[in-house]
Amino acid sequence: MKILGIETSCDETAAAVVRDGREILSNVVVSQIDIFAEYGGVIPEVAARSHLEVMMPVIDIALADASCTWDDIDTIAVTHAPGLLGSLLIGTLTARTLAILHNKPLYAVHHLKSHVYANWLWQSQTSMLRSEARPAGPFASDVPSSAIRVPGGERSRVTDTTPRLASLRTPPYQSTDVYPPFPLIALVVSGGHTQILYMPAHNEFEIIGTTHDDAVGECFDKVAKILGLPYPGGPSIAKVALTGDADKYKLPHPKVEGLDFSFSGLKTAILRAVQKEVGVPISYPSHKLKDLLSDEQVADFAGSFQKTAVEILIEKLKIALQRYPEVKSIMLAGGVSANKMLRERVLAEFASRESEKTNLGARPCEVYFPTPALSGDNGAMVAVACYYEILSGVEPTDPYSLNIYPRISVED
Ligand code: KG4
Ligand code: ZN
Repeated sequence: MKILGIETSCDETAAAVVRDGREILSNVVVSQIDIFAEYGGVIPEVAARSHLEVMMPVIDIALADASCTWDDIDTIAVTHAPGLLGSLLIGTLTARTLAILHNKPLYAVHHLKSHVYANWLWQSQTSMLRSEARPAGPFASDVPSSAIRVPGGERSRVTDTTPRLASLRTPPYQSTDVYPPFPLIALVVSGGHTQILYMPAHNEFEIIGTTHDDAVGECFDKVAKILGLPYPGGPSIAKVALTGDADKYKLPHPKVEGLDFSFSGLKTAILRAVQKEVGVPISYPSHKLKDLLSDEQVADFAGSFQKTAVEILIEKLKIALQRYPEVKSIMLAGGVSANKMLRERVLAEFASRESEKTNLGARPCEVYFPTPALSGDNGAMVAVACYYEILSGVEPTDPYSLNIYPRISVED
């Protein structure tokens, strides 16, 4: 079964063709990062207009890369929730029109579900890490990418194709098998969400923890802005943090009970710490602080912030494992799951043999995360989530009436 997945929930215009819920035949992502780097964040109207410009070229290239015509496509899947209203509209209206024109079944997929299902793609399974076997270079992207021109557009795109499929080991399971071991908990960390999902089986999600305010990715982006680092903040902070002293500034952990999160206090704590460090009052405009900071101070703040944010996520995962002792796997998902320090810490805490001895709360589990190229928004994850909806007996949606839901939860 070949599924065309379409994703436009935020600032990436993406389309991919995935075979049998696991093999990426093409994966085209046009990012608007270059546009929003100028503004320091996403402007919804600009994002929607930009999706409109490249939507059809992206789909055409995804089909061509996969050597597919419309006859080869069995199903169309599109993100209909949650996300930016205008952005979701472009993707869903395109998918609806194409489904009607080409007489294809249409599936509407929740964005967070798609992020979780990125872990089922073959390309992700090469970075799937088990407690007993840790491959040498787990953090390198094993999906090749190259920048090329999009017809009619100035921006670059990333293509994730699968010329190296032959070198990937064939999974010892069928796509309908239970993989990875259920029940699992998924830590979904993106620019818009920070949630812990309990997944007892395919296509079943229960939110067991969520943020009360900012998402952790949003916090990375806001802290980067204070430090004068480019958008998106996550990769910028991770990069400069490499040279910083992560223990230089002590930052508070939010006092949120149980499995819920809060990240707005951490952002304010950084703001106050920076103001104190450079000796200005709290009324001093935050956008001017960057001019007063040395490169060394920026690196130390970035390192200290990243370490604190990661530790907060680890703490909550520990509590989740205590509360749900039957859990067999931990899965990371969403843009922030590309963060190297987060991956390393989750592995060290939950997947290594050492953790059995040293961490009272944590037990070794199977740990999974998508390759960095598949952590952020892409069409392949939409297609694989759709595949498991089909296997779970979900019916296609009506292309004449499919609606968008900018805010609904993955449980609805
Ligand atoms: O999942 P995603 O691509 O889009 C949303 O659904 O929101 O996530 C984007 C978020 C941004 O906030 C970005 O700063 C963050 O993921 N991010 C990272 C890293 N790469 C992207 N955060 C921390 N470390 C990274 N390496
Ligand atoms: Zn996302």
